[in-house]
Amino acid sequence: MSNSRVLSGIQPTSGSFHLGNYLGAVKQWVELQDSHDAFYCVVDLHALTSAPDPKELRKNTLTSVAQLLALGLDPERCTLFVQSHVVEHNQLAWVMECMTGFGEASRMTQFKDKSVKTGTDRIGVGVFTYPMLMAADILLYQANQVPVGEDQRQHIELTRDLAGRFNHQYGKTFIIPEGFILKEGAKIYDLQDPTSKMSKSAESLSGLIEILDTPAANTKKIKSAVTDTGREITFDAQNKPGISNLLTIFSALSGRSVAEIENEFAGKGYGDFKAAVAEVVVEYLTPVREKTLELLDDPTHLGQILSRGAEKAQAVAGKTVRDVYDRIGLIPRG
Ligand code: TRP
Repeated sequence: MSNSRVLSGIQPTSGSFHLGNYLGAVKQWVELQDSHDAFYCVVDLHALTSAPDPKELRKNTLTSVAQLLALGLDPERCTLFVQSHVVEHNQLAWVMECMTGFGEASRMTQFKDKSVKTGTDRIGVGVFTYPMLMAADILLYQANQVPVGEDQRQHIELTRDLAGRFNHQYGKTFIIPEGFILKEGAKIYDLQDPTSKMSKSAESLSGLIEILDTPAANTKKIKSAVTDTGREITFDAQNKPGISNLLTIFSALSGRSVAEIENEFAGKGYGDFKAAVAEVVVEYLTPVREKTLELLDDPTHLGQILSRGAEKAQAVAGKTVRDVYDRIGLIPRG
């Protein structure tokens, strides 16, 4: 393990992760455990910005943790924890809010998009301060790299600006983190609309492969995936987005190259190909689903993992907050 530290977070906003979450993010998290000192956080405080039902939030937080473990995060090789268990996140977030300009925060595209949809009068202040809480998540751990999707680039830029501003004003305190924008190749599209990213905000669930869905449900979704005109099974993202997306999924889950799969299916039809994709997906996800359900069946064990994770996280975060408080002139309690 190198000394280089990574930190990333995922919101517990749904009952199941989907294949886009896994191939676009969590798979890289699993790989980074071996090369980096890795911190991974289920960001339940961020999820509050969408006013979840308390029962759902509780369930989704535990399900998120169980899925991360089932997909390969190993508490012996990384620090896995729940954001609200480490109070330092809120403490540093306030300091970050006090250092952010109103105009600067108003220019964040996620806030702008949401306030257009919801109306500026009704949009929550939490949506406005969301990026400062995210900056705190990252800076607390002195992370060198932050593996995220392209949509988080602006948040990473703000985090870097705030860290630089703080260091300039109060002396070097924070490591300036780098975004580690995940590869485009890992991008998975909706099965029904293969030009849009696979996302839980899609209009219908029929284009979404959910990790915890039954094998039968996922097989059905793949067999009814939108395909393209023509009949060749070839990768051509421009002209054949549907088949290309299925090839990406097949290749990522089987570890075989796209070229090899194209060769195997030369001269065969879309029906045969889809059946093979469904088989690979089911073979991959069935043990993950079973492991997740098994973990959820033992809440005491899950609780122990999270308690240990929070302890490890807090040891680092507490040190950062003590240093920050001291530098900005807050006196210790004595
Ligand atoms: N905003 C991120 C997302 O929606 C989630 C997140 C919160 C995060 N805190 C983080 C990601 C810290 C990386 C690092 O995907």
